[in-house]
Amino acid sequence: MNIQWYPGHMTKTRRQMAENLKLVDAVCEIIDARIPYSSRNPDIDDMFSSKPRLVLLNKADQADSNITRRWKDYFRAQGMAVLETDCKTRKGINDFAPTLRELLKPQIEKWNEKGLVGKTIRVMVVGIPNVGKSTLINQLAKRKTAKTEDRPGVTRGAQWVTVDDKLELLDTPGILWPKFDDPMVGLRLAFTGAVKDQIMDVETLAFELMKLMAVEYPEKVRERYKFDPDPSLEDWELLEMAGRKRGFLISGGEIDLDRMARVLLDEYRAGKLGRISLETPEMLKQEA
Ligand code: G4P
Repeated sequence: MNIQWYPGHMTKTRRQMAENLKLVDAVCEIIDARIPYSSRNPDIDDMFSSKPRLVLLNKADQADSNITRRWKDYFRAQGMAVLETDCKTRKGINDFAPTLRELLKPQIEKWNEKGLVGKTIRVMVVGIPNVGKSTLINQLAKRKTAKTEDRPGVTRGAQWVTVDDKLELLDTPGILWPKFDDPMVGLRLAFTGAVKDQIMDVETLAFELMKLMAVEYPEKVRERYKFDPDPSLEDWELLEMAGRKRGFLISGGEIDLDRMARVLLDEYRAGKLGRISLETPEMLKQEA
């Protein structure tokens, strides 16, 4: 997310979204299943409260399935329809249209009563950058088109995308911003690669990730890096142990921490460490 948001852009995007909201029957919000809290836009509940909503937990292939199940319950309890998707294997993609029809059942019944049988359902698709919005829309529309360049504040017209003869998506112009004011959000977005490394110190980031893994997923550390991650150790010590096991040495026998930091982040982002979720619904209650 090497994007700058400015108050002016955000106001403009909010206005555009409010305009476009009049054109649709429902809103589909795409989030990253590994960080369902951090990958949400803070104003989304305010902006879209008037419409039926579908929350799509994408990248489910990289998330802990037990935790994803708890997040599904969490969003359902707030009255939203929920779907888990994985664009790598297309899991969940075919459930998109049926889930929306179920969500809009009362509306569809009203249409039928008025004689509007088979009316096309229109859905606005929103999400912060990197959650997989373009990939998902392309898969739903069975198209291979290149991604449109997204820049805050630059208007590209609302794009209607046909899924089938009864379902159209509105690919939103303007892009949504994450929660800026919570440092944990920035950190978790950086772990997943949604925030570019140039704006975060790679070693600090890797220390934090290794610490988190040592506490929450020690067996995955053991499996991948071949050592027992004692969570009482300092975070840099944990990273150093991983580096030593990998044989990442620099002159004088010191561990090349920078190299190990990059490897850890790359491997996490590529899913090589297994399915790891960084946020749980219970965590929200604790942090609140
Ligand atoms: P955006 O429009 O929301 O900004 O996201 P985009 O579709 O560009 O996807 C961002 C990255 O996430 C892409 O990877 C994409 O392949 C990946 N992605 C999307 N959906 C899924 C999913 O369900 N599971 C996994 N594991 N990855 C997903 P990239 O490395 O930036 O590009 P690419 O080389 O993979 O195309």
